[in-house]
Amino acid sequence: MARILTGIQSTGIPHLGNILGAIKPAIEMANNPNNDAFLFIADLHSLTTIFDPNIRKEHTYGVAAAWLAFGLDPEKTVFYRQSDVTEVCELTWDLCCSAPYPMLANATSFKDKLDRLSDVNGGIFIYPVLMAADIILYDANFVPVGKDQQQHLEMTRDIASTFNNRYGETFVIPEAKVDEQVMIIPGIDGQKMSKSYNNTVNIFLPDKELRKVIMKIITDATPVEQPKNPDTCNVFKLYSYVATTDKIEEMRQNYLRGGYGYGQAKEALYQTLVEKFSKERELYANYMNNKEELDKKLKIGADKARVVAQETLKRVRTKLGFK
Ligand code: AMP
Ligand code: TRP
Repeated sequence: MARILTGIQSTGIPHLGNILGAIKPAIEMANNPNNDAFLFIADLHSLTTIFDPNIRKEHTYGVAAAWLAFGLDPEKTVFYRQSDVTEVCELTWDLCCSAPYPMLANATSFKDKLDRLSDVNGGIFIYPVLMAADIILYDANFVPVGKDQQQHLEMTRDIASTFNNRYGETFVIPEAKVDEQVMIIPGIDGQKMSKSYNNTVNIFLPDKELRKVIMKIITDATPVEQPKNPDTCNVFKLYSYVATTDKIEEMRQNYLRGGYGYGQAKEALYQTLVEKFSKERELYANYMNNKEELDKKLKIGADKARVVAQETLKRVRTKLGFK
C-alpha cells in the first residue's frame, strides 16, 4: 500500500483547468484501492499571499466543495484542512533547522520575487519547509504535483535526508509523481487557463454568468458563412475536452463546412458544460449553502490526519532530545 499525498492551495475557486488537470486525476488515484490517500487544503500556505480572512475562508470552502462535488470520498480519503492539524507548524520549525539558507534562497518561489524583496515575507522564504513538513509529517511515499512543484519536492527530500543523517532514520523520503502527459487546458484567451491570467472558466458559476464567460471566448473574425479551422479555435479546443467523441467530430465538420458561426459553437460548449457537470454544479451549490456539512467532513479528515501527525511528532521529539 503506497501513501499518496497532495495539497491544494486555497487561493481561488478551482477552474476547469484545475478540475480536469488535477482534481479528477487525483480522485482517481485516491479511489485506487492500492493507495492510501491524503488530500488537504493548504490554507496555511495561502497566508503568504492572501491577507483577507474572509476570502481565505470562502476559497477554502470553495476548494473543499469542488473536491467533494467531483467525488472525493471523505471516508476513503483523508481529506483535511492543513490549519486543522497544527502539528505541521511544530514540524516546520524542526525542519527549518535542517534547511540550509542557500537551498532556501535558491527556491524558485522565492527567487522569482528577488526584484521586489520588500514584498517578500518570512512565510514566502520558508514556504518550501512548510511544504516539506506537510509531506514528511504523514510518511507520504508519493506526491503527485505539477512540474512547477518539482523543486519543492527535491528540497523536501534534501531536508528529510539531512534530518535522518543528523538524528538517525526518522522520515520516509518521498518521491514526486509528475505526470509528463498532463493536458494543459486553454483559457478563454487561448493561453494556459490560469487565475493569474484572468482567463478562467469557473463551471460553478450560476447559468447566466457561466454563459457570459463562454460568450467572451476569443475567436478570430471569420464570417459565419465561411469554413473555419477548428484546430486553432479556442472554443473548439475547450469543447474537445468536455464533449463526446461524436459531438466533437460533428462540431469539427460544422467548422470545416462553413455556415456555422462561433456563436453557435459557444452555445454548444455552454450547453455541454451545463449538462456534463450538472450533478457536480448542484452538489457544489448545496455544499456552499451548507458550510456546516463541509466543516463536518473536513473534521473527519483532520481527526484521522492528527493521529498520524502525532505519531510522527513523537518520533521527532525523541530524536531531538526533547523527551
Ligand atoms: P495552480 O493553482 O495553478 O497551482 O493549479 C493547481 C493544479 O491544477 C496543478 O496541479 C496544475 O497542474 C493544475 N492546473 C492548473 N491550471 C491548469 C490548466 N490550465 N490545465 C491543466 N491543469 C491545470
Ligand atoms: N505548493 C503547492 C502548490 O502551490 C501546494 C502544496 C502545499 C502541496 N503543500 C503541499 C503540494 C504538499 C503537495 C504536497 O501547488
